[in-house]
Amino acid sequence: MIREVCKDVFHVGAIDWDRRLFDALIPLPEGTSYNSYLIKGSEKTALIDAVDPRMKDVLLSNLDALRVDSIDYVISQHAEQDHSGAIKFLIDRYDPKVLGSQKCIELLLDFGIVSKDRARAVSDGEMLSLGDMTLEFISAPWVHWPDTIFTYLRERRTLFTCDFLGSHLATSDLFAWNHESAKRYYAEIMMPFRANARRHLERVRALAPDIIAPSHGPLHDNPEIVLSAYADWTSDDVRNEVVVPFVSMHGSTEMMVSHLVDALIDRGISVKRFDLTKTDIGALAASLVDAATIVFGTPAFITRPHPLIAYAAILANSLRPNARFASIIGSYGWGARIVEELKSLMPNLKMEIIEPVIVKGYPKNDDLRSIEMLADEILRRHRELGLL
Ligand code: FEO
Repeated sequence: MIREVCKDVFHVGAIDWDRRLFDALIPLPEGTSYNSYLIKGSEKTALIDAVDPRMKDVLLSNLDALRVDSIDYVISQHAEQDHSGAIKFLIDRYDPKVLGSQKCIELLLDFGIVSKDRARAVSDGEMLSLGDMTLEFISAPWVHWPDTIFTYLRERRTLFTCDFLGSHLATSDLFAWNHESAKRYYAEIMMPFRANARRHLERVRALAPDIIAPSHGPLHDNPEIVLSAYADWTSDDVRNEVVVPFVSMHGSTEMMVSHLVDALIDRGISVKRFDLTKTDIGALAASLVDAATIVFGTPAFITRPHPLIAYAAILANSLRPNARFASIIGSYGWGARIVEELKSLMPNLKMEIIEPVIVKGYPKNDDLRSIEMLADEILRRHRELGLL
């Protein structure tokens, strides 16, 4: 399927309706797309980003349908294989020059996707004339690899941003706004690079594009919507929310979680509760964008944190959410080294630890009171931050 983005600019990428996992980790409940853009200048033709190699036939047949007989330049905005993997098939067919940042070219050479004689590095601010249209390359490293560039098509006020401002969403709509999938995507991919994202956002705003064309998910023809959302998500602000990822083996940790959830709600605090035996980790990641506090609930599993909670802690440590406070609740049968082990899994996080509540067996009345005191302490900390 080919779609016209604006005059002489075509979406020739692939919608991956069926993919359900990215990076062998991230759930894709709504699929994804690999957006590739063909720009037909009066003198030269350029293609921005290719597609995942498993969808290369879609890209090639779209180019056939457009009767493209030459591509002078392939702009590789980012070397990750979901955008670069099909470049070698374009080289075989069209023999283009492949342009990217110095780092991107190095990676493409390392991956065996291009050869040195085909590749050329471009620098920040460099222009490339296609005849009646001009591409400007903008260095945008660390959203989320060191190699990323954006490409600005001046005459159409269209900015191509590769992974940045994208979403994992398979949709027939060329332009659409889906807050949930965009936020999930931000949390999963961009949140660890919040400071860089904020910096690049300013540069995007300064360009004031009419269209933003990422390389995953729908495009933005009202860029202010996604830019405002990103300004919110990348800010240091947190909300009066507690995220509670938990596991329970015999029900005692779940009793503690239920008591805490009720106590927090009683105190006017929003709660997002995730049973990790059932949770979609993309939803958990998205919840971490705004929360002021995370409370992990775990039983002792051979004295240590349950592996599913250890997994959530490692994930949080990688995603680097903005949360200010954390605590741990849970139970054990005959021995526990939960707290220190769990803390050791999150060295990147600067969260202040509020006194954990770890009990032997099922929680007794005193233990439930300790849970209420934990809720009181969370309330006090949130009030100190002015969150309620
Ligand atoms: Fe969509 Fe970082 O690749």
